[in-house]
Amino acid sequence: MDASQEDPSQMPTAHRVALLARDDRPFHVILAQQFDRELIHTLCRLAERVRVIAETRQGANFLRTLLSHKRAMLYFIQPSTRTFLSFSAACQILGLSNNEVRDSSTSSEVKGESEEDTVRVLSQYFDVIIMRHPGEGFAESIAHKLNHMRRSIPIINGGSGKDQHPTQALLDIYTLHRNFSPAGPGGVIRAFEDNPFAGKTVAFAGDLARGRTVRSLVYLLCRYPGVRLLFVAPDELQIHEDILEHVGQQNIEHELCGSLPDVVADCDAIYMTRLQDEHDLAGESKKINLEDFRLDAAMKDRFKPKLAILHPLPRRKELDVRLDTDPRAKYWEQVRNGMWMRAALLAFVFNVDGAIIDHHHSHYSH
Ligand code: CP
Repeated sequence: MDASQEDPSQMPTAHRVALLARDDRPFHVILAQQFDRELIHTLCRLAERVRVIAETRQGANFLRTLLSHKRAMLYFIQPSTRTFLSFSAACQILGLSNNEVRDSSTSSEVKGESEEDTVRVLSQYFDVIIMRHPGEGFAESIAHKLNHMRRSIPIINGGSGKDQHPTQALLDIYTLHRNFSPAGPGGVIRAFEDNPFAGKTVAFAGDLARGRTVRSLVYLLCRYPGVRLLFVAPDELQIHEDILEHVGQQNIEHELCGSLPDVVADCDAIYMTRLQDEHDLAGESKKINLEDFRLDAAMKDRFKPKLAILHPLPRRKELDVRLDTDPRAKYWEQVRNGMWMRAALLAFVFNVDGAIIDHHHSHYSH
């Protein structure tokens, strides 16, 4: 069997990460485990620079030249608002023209073409494929298959089943970094601290069993020794054993909790998630009582002053709308940070990050 036929999920993580890299940097972006602390910081700094440069017409024009010779395909055959639109906006920021497939019933798959062949065809027209797919291993497996094509292009995972959502985790950690780093004039972060999460408690609440954003963010937070993680969920929706095993192997202090009101006062960050009942065809999870996993404005007097409330969105009733205007609500910032982080990631994948750093240095570093 050649490597393109192997099931990647059966390989050791280090091997999976190596197969997704070229020249010691991620080529395909599939797993949160591809990002160590140094790379997370590189991307946070790059996102901050893109944000600053894009503020002026001259800067925005400069950014638009960087990838104006490239084309992106947004292959999103699962519903998405934020990931799809923020990648589309990120492409616009960098001058990448982009096209989309959002419904496979409009492609030749209805004539019996396999999904793999569809993606191989797309790889002949475009320079990167950004993909949301219901299949857990599909993005990784197609990335391996493309490695064996004469024309091999990067695959970026914009959400794979219940498994991973690495670019959401990058924007989440960027948002957390911004919350815990001192801001300079205009709210710009001049220096991201190496480990602002040591001694901090981050709680994940809601449907942790099927929340791919939680799984990916836990992998990133495990890069920060001294962070404490709370998994707050009903038994049926508690985080899976593979993640707990990883957290344990990394010596990260953690606890399983059965009530959000009981722990809210301890938290420096709370990451809320909705019930992911689209994965539950029988509708069983709708019967679970989620009252103890709801963040309510009535709890505000127990919040720490610098608490960060995050939610990948969309939300339902688990996050009280009366919290939207509280300065500790960071979920609208998360949405915007996603655009800057995804622009930074695309710039990094296409090796134009150096041009952004040089431009920033010559125009803003005084
Ligand atoms: N957070 C997130 O992935 O949102 P969408 O499903 O709208 O892309």
